Amino acid sequence: MSDEVNPNRSVSNTMSIAGHPPEPDEDDSRSTGFIHMPVMRREVVEVLAEVPDGVVVDATLGGAGHAAALLEVNNNISVVGLDRDEVALAAARVRLAPHLDRVSLHHRRFDAIGEVVRSLGHEHVSGCLFDLGVSSPQLDTADRGFSFRNDGPLDMRMDRTARFTAADIVNTYDERSLVGILRQYGDEPHARRIASAIVAARPLSSTAELAEVVRQAVPAPARRRGGHPARRSFQAIRIEVNEELSILADALGQAIELLAPSGRCAVLAYHSGEDRIVKRTFRDAAGEVPPPRPDLPPPPGTVAEVKLLWRGAHKPSQDEIVVNPRAEAARFRAVEKLARVA
Ligand SMILES: C[S@@+](CC[C@H](N)C(=O)[O-])C[C@H]1O[C@@H](n2cnc3c(N)ncnc32)[C@H](O)[C@@H]1O
Repeated sequence: MSDEVNPNRSVSNTMSIAGHPPEPDEDDSRSTGFIHMPVMRREVVEVLAEVPDGVVVDATLGGAGHAAALLEVNNNISVVGLDRDEVALAAARVRLAPHLDRVSLHHRRFDAIGEVVRSLGHEHVSGCLFDLGVSSPQLDTADRGFSFRNDGPLDMRMDRTARFTAADIVNTYDERSLVGILRQYGDEPHARRIASAIVAARPLSSTAELAEVVRQAVPAPARRRGGHPARRSFQAIRIEVNEELSILADALGQAIELLAPSGRCAVLAYHSGEDRIVKRTFRDAAGEVPPPRPDLPPPPGTVAEVKLLWRGAHKPSQDEIVVNPRAEAARFRAVEKLARVA
């Protein structure tokens, strides 16, 4: 999900991935306090309902809204669900209770997709879904430390069994490395000023402290534009804590390799760095790299394994964005495995 684009959302004892009221079919999740609104659900279901019978991997299961929708429309698939967050998996188990005979849940990172699928005895899968980033319950639960609006510890781990936290980055990275991650993962134009302010303010222990240090570091006119001044910095630190970008291309490559002929891989990305990796990986797998010399065999990586189901990225409709502002950043791409590699 994109970072906190909806400042007016109120958080009660229930939470919403997309920050808007639950739909009637979300009752199952309400008992877990993990209510979610899957982004571009109709579009995702349209793409993945068409796959051959067999196994669909939901590599970012979250509250299992997409997975439940897929299981509901197609009795001939089973779902292997992965999530690195045990809280999400617990919520997914409740959400998927009516389908548990067709579901297997795994507390794993998505770059373990090949290993998990093979350990279940499958050689191929019919579909894969990656709905990248964080869920609203992760963002909205203050003690997870993802939020610049709700004070909490500097944590930001999706997997709470992992050791490395936001505090490690904020309090130990040298200034140059901080500038690098703020620029690379946050597109932050004031990276130098922010990094220098963070180093000067050490030690920092809470998200409120960090948000205030960033706010003070940003030039006054920029504070009044483009949302909360700490939004990009929090996104960058979160991506670094969870190694979100460094494992993505490998995981997508594994997913494409696992696909059976006519199987499909669909990805929702929420920021430019993520979407660039998806776009490049899909284009490479579709063989869309011009051969350097027509008389030579194509270099490795240029043989088409898949076709792009459409050019460019699909975006959520205005209607969806109105009820669900966090969906706005979504960019949806999908590929289909060729029957025979070209
Ligand atoms: C946007 S939410 C998915 C929401 C889900 N599609 C639904 O309908 O509820 C992303 C989920 O992916 C998980 N996640 C993010 N990166 C992951 C990774 N590398 N491996 C496994 N899970 C990951 C997060 O913990 C989060 O629960």
